[in-house]
Amino acid sequence: MITFSSVSKTYEDGTQAIRGLDFTIQAGELFVLIGPSGCGKTTTMKMINRLIEPTEGKILLHDREIHMFNVQELRWNIGYVLQQIALFPHMTIAENIALVPEMKKWKKKQISDRIDELLHMVGLNPATYRDRKPSELSGGQQQRVGVIRALAADPEVILMDEPFSALDPLSREQLQQDIRSLQQKIKKTIVFVTHDMDEAMAIGDRVCLMKNGETIQIDTPQNMILRPANDFVREFIGNRKSSWLTTVDVISETRSPHLLSIHEWEKGHISSTLPLYIVEEDGSLFGKIVEGSIVREYVPMIPNDMRLAQALPLFEQYQVEALPVVKGSKVIGILSYRTIVHYLAKEHEKEISGI
Ligand SMILES: Nc1ncnc2c1ncn2[C@@H]1O[C@H](COP(=O)(O)OP(=O)(O)O)[C@@H](O)[C@H]1O
Ligand SMILES: [Mg+2]
Repeated sequence: MITFSSVSKTYEDGTQAIRGLDFTIQAGELFVLIGPSGCGKTTTMKMINRLIEPTEGKILLHDREIHMFNVQELRWNIGYVLQQIALFPHMTIAENIALVPEMKKWKKKQISDRIDELLHMVGLNPATYRDRKPSELSGGQQQRVGVIRALAADPEVILMDEPFSALDPLSREQLQQDIRSLQQKIKKTIVFVTHDMDEAMAIGDRVCLMKNGETIQIDTPQNMILRPANDFVREFIGNRKSSWLTTVDVISETRSPHLLSIHEWEKGHISSTLPLYIVEEDGSLFGKIVEGSIVREYVPMIPNDMRLAQALPLFEQYQVEALPVVKGSKVIGILSYRTIVHYLAKEHEKEISGI
């Protein structure tokens, strides 16, 4: 979808901000750029919508060099959310959201419907908020409007540069949840910049860790933690506030004795490890085997972005050893009580030995 091919950027004053970036961001992926301040995240991001031009290499969108697109159209098709809340203060919320759709000459009715739809999507009642000015909203609400404004004209790609870093921890966590569920609903390609490892782990499908303008490791959050490429990655991961904040998908197991496909089950395979979860061909959960018979209703499942701290009590509550982890409606793995305990113990060991 977006490909960087040997991309470098040297600013006029000689600063080498980016060196030889090579990666591809997949369609529908939430791709996080992370790294210490000054490592080149913003430069990388701004090259995608041509606010900055690379000095070497190529950037492709859908296999076409981005230079082939008209720059206005390119920017209309790439939503952009900034760190500082950048709503126009003299315009109402509705007017702010309508900006790009108006430039794209959408019809009035279509724009108006879109505004209501988007406000609903992030839990703001249109009747209350449409005609307010940005100053009449809280910081978290304003940033939420910033996010939906970037979505307004239905862009294929959304760039977000530290969009939540100015917010208090509560609004921030709420918006991280929002962005995850939004992305599952709208399936956009999102490039998200942050310097916060907890945030990257919580929302990223893949994380690209940068240092001095180069990529150090591009991987799933799970692999970053389990297979860090070097000490720099290990140290960066270690900066997480707490292993309790790790999301469950990081340690859920895609292959597990608690998991069986519907084919295997129909063929009479059965595992002695209970509980046993049966998964349909499309990845959704078919049911759970309890005492030899299948239960299809009220099977508890854990959303993939839940934190370990929230997941652990569920095992007590439901009195089970293992629970299925779902992303949207698909089972992506199994989380067991044992895995959590092992993981936390290992992390704790690392902390006290100072790795
Ligand atoms: N317009 C500019 N002119 C010269 N140097 C710049 C300019 N913008 C950024 N830089 C430098 O390029 C490097 C990368 O910056 P940036 O992409 O903003 O990093 P990040 O977003 O990761 O903090 C830094 O050393 C920064 O000082
Ligand atoms: Mg930056």
